Amino acid sequence: MTETANNEITVILATGNRDKVRELRPLLENISPLFRVSALHELGVEVEIEESEVTLEGNALIKARAIFALLSERFPFMIALADDTGLEVESLEGAPGVYSARYAPMPDGESPTYKDNVDHLLHCMNGITNRAARFRTVIALKGSLPSAQGNLQFELTTYGIVEGMITFEPKGDAGFGYDPVFMVDSIGKTYSEMSTAEKNSLSHRSLAIQKAVVALKETLEHNNIPLTDTNAYQ
Ligand code: IMP
Repeated sequence: MTETANNEITVILATGNRDKVRELRPLLENISPLFRVSALHELGVEVEIEESEVTLEGNALIKARAIFALLSERFPFMIALADDTGLEVESLEGAPGVYSARYAPMPDGESPTYKDNVDHLLHCMNGITNRAARFRTVIALKGSLPSAQGNLQFELTTYGIVEGMITFEPKGDAGFGYDPVFMVDSIGKTYSEMSTAEKNSLSHRSLAIQKAVVALKETLEHNNIPLTDTNAYQ
């Protein structure tokens, strides 16, 4: 059974992270008056999706496709949005990359904490002078939109990159994950030394989101779906 009114387009965020939902909702709702943005938990959906690919693109697409397959009957016009992020260190041949969340080796399949991962990274880089690194986020969208020809399906990915360096020790208190050891080249501060607003204004994730917003607008425009003329990034 479908749950949508008229041509409403349900945008479903494939994340349980409430900070990401708070950041994404206004940006997406600003794109079109037809958009209704929901996180999985708000739809009463609990699902484990295995991230079995070896690239960020692959894993982001796995998540977007899985949510689309699960919910497209319930929401005939919908867009599933998923993201995947990795820290890529040049001297470690791109590690931890797609394995950033589970980098530190742990006993008995335990999940490492952010601190375990940071400590492991600093340990692996002991004595290494080339500290160059970058954060990369990939956003994947899979959707089905109303069009003159009926139901139009599309799939796209966008990415955001921020170049930086791994510090020799943690600096700053804000943020999460590898923020205390990731120094942004263009600013000369670690992410943890920035306020949330400053980090969000320039982060890898926000760059990827900005591109996703542009790509979505183009897709809607192409299919004569109404757009608002305001943009939260302006
Ligand atoms: P996810 O794909 O957003 O779940 O990110 C995977 C892992 O990358 C997280 O568990 C964090 O360790 C790390 N990570 C992702 N985004 C950030 C960030 O903005 N700052 C620091 N670490 C991050």
